[in-house]
Amino acid sequence: MAFKLLAINGSLTPPPSRTRVVLDVALAGARAYDQHVETEVLELRDFALEFCDGRSPDDYNSDTRRALALLEEADAYLVATPVYRASYTGALKNFFDLVPNEPGVRDPLRGKVVGLLATGGSDHHYLVLEHQLRPLFGFFGAYTPARAIYASAKDFDERKQARGKLVEELTQLGQEVVAQARFLQQVPGLALAENLRMRGD
Ligand SMILES: Cc1cc2nc3c(=O)[nH]c(=O)nc-3n(C[C@H](O)[C@H](O)[C@H](O)COP(=O)(O)O)c2cc1C
Repeated sequence: MAFKLLAINGSLTPPPSRTRVVLDVALAGARAYDQHVETEVLELRDFALEFCDGRSPDDYNSDTRRALALLEEADAYLVATPVYRASYTGALKNFFDLVPNEPGVRDPLRGKVVGLLATGGSDHHYLVLEHQLRPLFGFFGAYTPARAIYASAKDFDERKQARGKLVEELTQLGQEVVAQARFLQQVPGLALAENLRMRGD
């Protein structure tokens, strides 16, 4: 069965972006694991995204709607960001501000699996993954695999290619996201269970 895995690059750096490099290795791992996986990369720098101002998602410009449509069509995700000022990038924040989260009406990430990745200049800010990215996807009701990958300058060679154990870990994350998403697709009621925050009176 066809399966769409969308990678979202929170870096606006022109190629070669280290953040794009880690995404590409993880995507290759996903394709090697399951031949039915189709992969695509949403490069935020290729879209003239508007700033989120609270409008309905349908009322933004065509690039913004096109980026949101790509997200809504996917079965699972890899989201990667460079660390900027001890956090994820403003570009990524703006994109996810635009993503709707109306429970049961339009909540494209609910019950889906999102693999988390970040790159930084040093190892100081690796907890950005746990303290900032993971809660973002908890808000959307998505599942995030326990494995989250942080890579810093020492994990790349002089051509900015991933090296050493990082390659193995990225490959495993790609596989893990697909395996978890495939499992959840078999038990849709479980995947869509509402969390405490969403429980009404
Ligand atoms: C504006 C800016 C802020 C940054 N802030 C941090 C930071 O707080 N901590 C860190 O470890 N690296 C920081 N960096 C370094 C980048 O996170 C790192 O070089 C990253 O791998 C770049 O990824 P890219 O090649 O995909 O753009 C910063 C870089 C820029 C341009």
